[in-house]
Amino acid sequence: MTETKLTFPAGFTWGAATAAYQIEGAWDEDGRGESVWDRFVHTSGRVMHGHTGDVACDHYHRWRDDVALMRDLGLRAYRFSVAWPRILPTGRGVVNQKGVDFYSRLVDALLEAGIKPYITLYHWDLPQPLQDAGGWLNRATVAAFAEYTDVISRALGDRVKHWMTLNEPHVVVLSYEHDWFAPAVNDPALGPVVTHHLMLAHGQAVEVLRRNVSGVEVGIAPDYWLHMPASGSNADARLAQWQDCVSNRRYLDVLFGRGYPTELVEHYRRLGYWPEGKEGFVKEGDLQIIAAPLDFLAINHYSRNIVRDAAAPDNLPPTTFAVDKTDMGWEVYPNGLYEVLWRLWRDYRPRQLYISENGASYSDAPGPDGHVHDARRIRYLRHYFAAAHRAIEAGVPLAGYFVWSLMDNFEWARGYTQRFGLVWVDYETQRRIPKDSALWYRQVIAENGF
Ligand code: FCB
Repeated sequence: MTETKLTFPAGFTWGAATAAYQIEGAWDEDGRGESVWDRFVHTSGRVMHGHTGDVACDHYHRWRDDVALMRDLGLRAYRFSVAWPRILPTGRGVVNQKGVDFYSRLVDALLEAGIKPYITLYHWDLPQPLQDAGGWLNRATVAAFAEYTDVISRALGDRVKHWMTLNEPHVVVLSYEHDWFAPAVNDPALGPVVTHHLMLAHGQAVEVLRRNVSGVEVGIAPDYWLHMPASGSNADARLAQWQDCVSNRRYLDVLFGRGYPTELVEHYRRLGYWPEGKEGFVKEGDLQIIAAPLDFLAINHYSRNIVRDAAAPDNLPPTTFAVDKTDMGWEVYPNGLYEVLWRLWRDYRPRQLYISENGASYSDAPGPDGHVHDARRIRYLRHYFAAAHRAIEAGVPLAGYFVWSLMDNFEWARGYTQRFGLVWVDYETQRRIPKDSALWYRQVIAENGF
């Protein structure tokens, strides 16, 4: 059988992604304030093996080498996040110039290497002083986020044209409803108000970015899990649809001007979690702010979720799937990416789409030859890239693809137990070794296909 070459559209943006807390380290250097993640990791029992991001990949000191590495891979773009507590150590007010300078130098080095910077403003590291005042429960955090956006976009907006407001707002909501992630508030009643303040913060940041950055392209990066029923029963189908509403449409509908899904609001109203009138958190004009037009929609997508309504009487037996899982326990299901892209295009018609994160955790370590033969990651990416290519062929305006992650890093509550990198990191020595997947990816980028 001859294999056809898949060629991507000219100018397709091939990149890799990271997040500040997961790679930077230097958690208390040069005036950086404490974030909710610092507090979380320093609380015993929160993170596997007591790992912390105190040092992480030491990128704060090794950024020059890391940019050189990216240049060697031929990356066209790099998505990273700015740590709010480096810019405004207490969340608002006094600006920490050293923090601003760090990102400014990074941006210069990237541009010099021919790599387009894509900034995420919020990848979960809320300044702890804002959390002490309620965090995303408090509407004042929305104004603080606008202030932070203003400071950083004034400083970098002459050079950085691509901005994403929030990374995975749903994970932030879950971190108030549960205790797995910082700030671990663990109160299921808080989801709605946190959702709304995050969305409002997004909308206000869009306004600020449009004002401060000429030629800006602004978007947001929610995660999108595909929820698929475990059987052909109505019960499983209904539950899968409900989960889609709770974790996907909850954000997308309101971003695209449709308000929050009615069934979601009714559900929370019944529980008493969605107060209205004077007590209500949705104020007049909010929904218009949230629905500010976007230049692109970016999504993080990794896998699908198989949904089973175990409580439904006489449910059908679940279909058995032959599942292939990564070390995260996430199923490898490339067709899901095609379906997600297609759905987003069909349902919301964004101007452009990006994949802001996709990748796989596999623990392959350097072999006797010193190389990391991560054939499973290559296979994963090959299939997901092919799914993206099919979506493009079907008419989806996909503009770029960021592999998660540039390098192995601190995987939140799982500490350093998961390796998502294209580049191996030896946490003892901070040595970096591009894995086979990195070399393969370099080729894909050079040929704009495979
Ligand atoms: C996403 C996060 C990212 C990374 C990947 C594996 O949910 O946005 O920081 O941890 O998962």
